[in-house]
Amino acid sequence: MRVLTFENSCDSEQDRVLRQKAKPVKDINDELRRTLAEMFETMHKDRGVGLAGPQVGLLQRIFVTHAERDQDRVFINPSIIWTSQEQVKFEEGCLSVPGLWADVVRPEKIKVQAWNERGRAFTLEAAGVLSRVIQHEYDHLEGILFMDRLNETARQKFLAKLEKQKQAG
Ligand code: NI
Repeated sequence: MRVLTFENSCDSEQDRVLRQKAKPVKDINDELRRTLAEMFETMHKDRGVGLAGPQVGLLQRIFVTHAERDQDRVFINPSIIWTSQEQVKFEEGCLSVPGLWADVVRPEKIKVQAWNERGRAFTLEAAGVLSRVIQHEYDHLEGILFMDRLNETARQKFLAKLEKQKQAG
């Protein structure tokens, strides 16, 4: 199976793709199922816990997850329909921003509504790691990267590290 190529935020042309808003999927068909299977393959190969379409150059509203001890999950045209008042800090990294991590504050629990690869709609309430992964992947569909969620001081520090990494090649 084809392993997909990553969009890397260190590359300015690819960064442009990561910054775009993905488009809704119109048809859940065999081609899409093939793409999703390739996304799982790519995510597992890099031991990721989630992978969104824009990360592999596909500007479609799709992502896959495999949060620790959870099953493989597919989200097509997702919407986050509820978030808890309670927020938590959690260390995040991203396959598109390799080698860098940061503590990000987000709602602890969410409810997400989406379609699976068989075209069936579902609603899922998630907490813990799965909630975190879904929120991070959902952001990718909006062109948002996790460092955008940091406060200004932390973000500047993070961007300086990213810049240093870019120069190191
Ligand atoms: Ni990511």
